[in-house]
Amino acid sequence: SGASVQGFDSLEDLVASLGIPRAVLMLVPAGRPVDEVIEQTLKYLDKGDLIIDAGNSHYVDTNRRSNQLSQNGIPFIGVGVSGGEEGARHGPSMMPGGSSEAYDRIKPLFEAAAAHVDNQPCVTYLGRGSAGHYVKTVHNGIEYAIMQLLAETYDIMKRRLGFDNDRLHEVYEQWNQVETASYLVEITAEIFSQPEEGSSKRLIDVILDQAKQKGTGKWTCQDAMDLQVPVPTIDAAVMMRHLSACEEQRKAGEKWFSQQSTIFSQNTESYVQDLRDAFYACTIVSYAQGMALLREASKSYDYGIRLSDVARIWRGGCIIRAKVLEEILVAYHEEPDLENLIFAPGLREIITRTMPKVGKICQNAIEAGIAMPAFMASLAYFNAVRSGWLPANLIQAQRDYFGSHTYERIDRKGTFHTDWSKR
Ligand code: 6PG
Repeated sequence: SGASVQGFDSLEDLVASLGIPRAVLMLVPAGRPVDEVIEQTLKYLDKGDLIIDAGNSHYVDTNRRSNQLSQNGIPFIGVGVSGGEEGARHGPSMMPGGSSEAYDRIKPLFEAAAAHVDNQPCVTYLGRGSAGHYVKTVHNGIEYAIMQLLAETYDIMKRRLGFDNDRLHEVYEQWNQVETASYLVEITAEIFSQPEEGSSKRLIDVILDQAKQKGTGKWTCQDAMDLQVPVPTIDAAVMMRHLSACEEQRKAGEKWFSQQSTIFSQNTESYVQDLRDAFYACTIVSYAQGMALLREASKSYDYGIRLSDVARIWRGGCIIRAKVLEEILVAYHEEPDLENLIFAPGLREIITRTMPKVGKICQNAIEAGIAMPAFMASLAYFNAVRSGWLPANLIQAQRDYFGSHTYERIDRKGTFHTDWSKR
């Protein structure tokens, strides 16, 4: 496109070629490599120069680096970048956080590089410290959840309905024409039509059923545990990646506990419609869990994140871009501190319509012996969130019984202990 690009053999020459104050953007694997590149680059930088880490760094590392660099007078921006190879070429979604004055310096560049939706760039300053990397981590947690939900729909259509790859391709293509449209649904449709080179097979059928991971999904769950925010659909997705890796155990289990599964052949058309609705409900629940985590993290870590900004910049460029983000954006515009996304009027209506299908599909999966933990976790989350009473009074009583941990009462203030064995 006529842009001039220069290559350098040494970091020193590269840094020397930059205008002052310098801005150095690095995109290297998370962990040690980031520290090493910072250490090397720092030798050639002056006060006021800026370092930008655009990798999938852990937010705790970003906080540490940010504090260390500020002692050297070097501002630091941690930016989550999503979009894979296509995003790199045609514009990603970018999630920057850190020094807002420093961000203003690079803003025009970032806005020009980002994907655009409705003429708005899919990038904006998200908040203090490690806000950007935190938002990217949660983006990936939601990504894991939606990928697992799609994998479960594939499982039930393949093993319960007996669909072949052509039929699966058609179903996902159809899902991508309506409210469930998203980048992940789109690529899933394409995957089922990809031939295996030099054979009559489809590529999907020769791919090993063991999922790898780099850790961002796990970080989401770990931090959600620390902040006591329930994210069970994301937990289920991480757990299933681990279970998928236990291939030998699964093969042994299949031998001991094999289940004859029968193909369900009546009215598959309406079954697939129910499955799509159920997938839609669980997708919204996955965003709700991720957003609830961001809301709490923003308060606990003093990030100052606006959830409407997050919804806005996720509409294009990133892996979890989806039609439903328009609805999510409206929800946070109307109520910026919404406690649970599914309470927003627009989403409440969708959930009321689609959630009953999740129960139907889960019942069917149980009968067929098919594991659908992300669907089941989403349903349990929903049922717990809509239950004004939960049986945790029993947990309180048990804790007090065996460990004198005390309990609270519904009719009186204070903490109480009972000598339970005495009556
Ligand atoms: C993105 C992706 C990307 C990441 C993959 C792989 O938003 O572009 O999230 O950052 O490389 O998601 O992650 P796992 O290896 O953990 O599946």
